[in-house]
Order: sequence, then C-alpha cells, then structure tokens
Amino acid sequence: MAEHDPDEAPDIDIARRDLLIAGALSATAAALPGSAGAQTPGASTPQAASTPAPVIARVALRVNGQRYEKEVDTRTTLLDLLREHLHLTGTKKGCDQGQCGACTVIADGRRINSCLSLALMHEGAEITTIEGLGTPERLHPLQAAFVKHDGYQCGYCTPGQICSAVAMLDEVRRGIPSHVTADLNARPLLSPMEMRERMSGNICRCGAYSNIMDAIGEVAGVSVAGGKA
Ligand code: FES
Ligand code: FES
Repeated sequence: MAEHDPDEAPDIDIARRDLLIAGALSATAAALPGSAGAQTPGASTPQAASTPAPVIARVALRVNGQRYEKEVDTRTTLLDLLREHLHLTGTKKGCDQGQCGACTVIADGRRINSCLSLALMHEGAEITTIEGLGTPERLHPLQAAFVKHDGYQCGYCTPGQICSAVAMLDEVRRGIPSHVTADLNARPLLSPMEMRERMSGNICRCGAYSNIMDAIGEVAGVSVAGGKA
C-alpha cells in the first residue's frame, strides 16, 4: 500500500476547486439565452421537438358596442384578449386564478371572471368592460356613486367592483336569489346582507368595503349604514 504523501494534498484541493468553478460556469452558460443549454423556440433539442406549437384561431366578438376580430393563441383568456390584444386595460388582473374579482366583466349580461374564461368561448358575445359603462363626462350611476362615497383607495379592484355591481343589481331586478335569500318570493331581493353576499366575489385589499356598500346601496335604494347590516 502506497504511503500518503502530504505534499499531494494541495493538488487534490485545487483540482476540487477547479471542478466546482467549472461546474458553476457551465450552469451559468446553460441559463443564458442563446447558449447551447437554453430552450429557445424551434431549437432542435428533444424537448423542443416534443413541445406542441401554439394553435392560433380567430375570434370575433363585440366589446362595449364595437366589433373586434382577432387571431389569438387558443389558450388566451378573455382577460388577456381585452388587455393585451384590444388594449382595454381598465379590466385588471389581480390573482389570474378566479379568486379576487378584479377582472370582472359582463358577458352577455352575466358577470364573469374574465381570467377564468378563454377568449374563444366568447365568439359572437357582447362584452361590457368598465370602459363601456360611462365616460368621464357622463359617469354611470354606480361610477358616480363610487366617487361620491370614496368607494376605493388604490382603485385596483374598482373596475371589477363596479362591473360586478352593475350585473348584480340586474340579477336582483330579475329576481335571481342568492345563497342568503331566505324568502324566494320577497321583492326586492336586496338587503345589506344580500348585497354583501352577492358582492363577496370581489375582494378589496384596501378594505374599502363600507364605502363600496354605501355606493351600491345608494344606487340600489338600500340604506346600509356604513356597510353594516
Ligand atoms: Fe380574475 Fe382575480 S384576476 S379573479
Ligand atoms: Fe385598493 Fe380595493 S381600493 S384593492
């Protein structure tokens, strides 16, 4: 058995250090765009070859009374169609997974979370966004009430809140019950509790709920006394 030579130890350490440096450099190079290890579109690597190409399809719909026809990736949500393709950025993207209501628009009379709906599902539909409800000179009654009652702080949830409230009041007018409707024959189907339940899909991170309820209550003709039942 060969005797251990202490003079060889530095060579072993250097070799190990060189190996670590070389490994770090190759990992960095692989992460850089255009490097041999990066996944660039169309690259002839086994992984790229198995990635399906986007499927493009045409969708035609009306938004705020105007007809649009666009070619989009079939995975495009209605929210991204509105914001990225039609540049109607009043509709906001909060969570992008159906939890906050910031993206609420009205599709054929129903309020929906546009982040949860594919654009292609709305072929021929009539979409209303916050831009279609009123103008700065002539606000929709709910827009005016939100201004009057300070129904916002940062304002990020506000387009969704207002679109949701517009459709919500229409649901009430049509007698559609909510989860807290005790008497299905009672009219109108609106109380402070009803309003809170019906608006519960719209989250306000600033916590402007009392003022939001005051604004909606004024338009609905319901006194909510600072949002409290
Ligand atoms: Fe659609 Fe939050 S962005 S629900
Ligand atoms: Fe800021 Fe509602 S006003 S999230």
